[in-house]
Amino acid sequence: MASSPTPSEGDAPVRGDVAPGDAPQAALIREYTVIAAPFLVPEVRLHLVTPECSLWKATDADLDRLQLPAPYWAFGWAGGQALARAVLDGTIDVRGKRVVDFGAGSGLIAIAAMLRGATQALAADIDPYAAIASRMNAALNDVTIEVTVVDLVGRVVAADVILAGDVTYDGPLARAVRAWLAERAAHGTEVYVGDPGRGFFDTSGLTEVVTIDSPSDVDVDGQYLIPTPIYAMHR
Ligand SMILES: C[S@@+](CC[C@H](N)C(=O)[O-])C[C@H]1O[C@@H](n2cnc3c(N)ncnc32)[C@H](O)[C@@H]1O
Repeated sequence: MASSPTPSEGDAPVRGDVAPGDAPQAALIREYTVIAAPFLVPEVRLHLVTPECSLWKATDADLDRLQLPAPYWAFGWAGGQALARAVLDGTIDVRGKRVVDFGAGSGLIAIAAMLRGATQALAADIDPYAAIASRMNAALNDVTIEVTVVDLVGRVVAADVILAGDVTYDGPLARAVRAWLAERAAHGTEVYVGDPGRGFFDTSGLTEVVTIDSPSDVDVDGQYLIPTPIYAMHR
């Protein structure tokens, strides 16, 4: 779906459940997560780390031992949950459209888009575990998505809609992502960003489409909801 990158760069989109070469990572994901729904999106089941999981309190040393990068894919983050809710409620219309879930983590937004009638959804995340978890999560919800681990920032992407949930969580990343998304929007792609006020995303000139109270970090049961705006970027 991304017009560049190409399969020769080693990231041909993979459909369906786990590819044979991904079996060890998939086994780790199964072992260290439970299947649960994020608070705002009860209709989507995901492999998540919750307080009952040993990874919940894992230290950096524990993750090193498992050779596991920080498992962002194991949580539904505020920006992603808000965007998935907006997609499923039809506030953002994805029906009949090609969607990119940028910084996909669990693939929650891509899955929501397919459930809501997108023609295809690409879960893009530079973490290979996120790609594997996204495929596994898609299978849990009986939808098919594509995945890529290529960094799409700065690239042309053949999509009608780009949805970026909680991927503007540090300064350099937020600036690079914003510039790329603005460029994509200038070329006619619909762009929506969910950011729970992490303080790095420049919102000047953007339209706030909706604000959804979304669980703050590591809040699995919605006790600490934070207003999470969804911004549209325009041509
Ligand atoms: C806080 S998580 C958000 C995950 C998901 N969108 C959600 O809201 O639940 C941020 C994700 O962005 C990914 N990420 C960071 N830089 C990226 C990049 N340049 N391209 C794609 N993904 C990136 C990380 O690997 C991580 O999975």
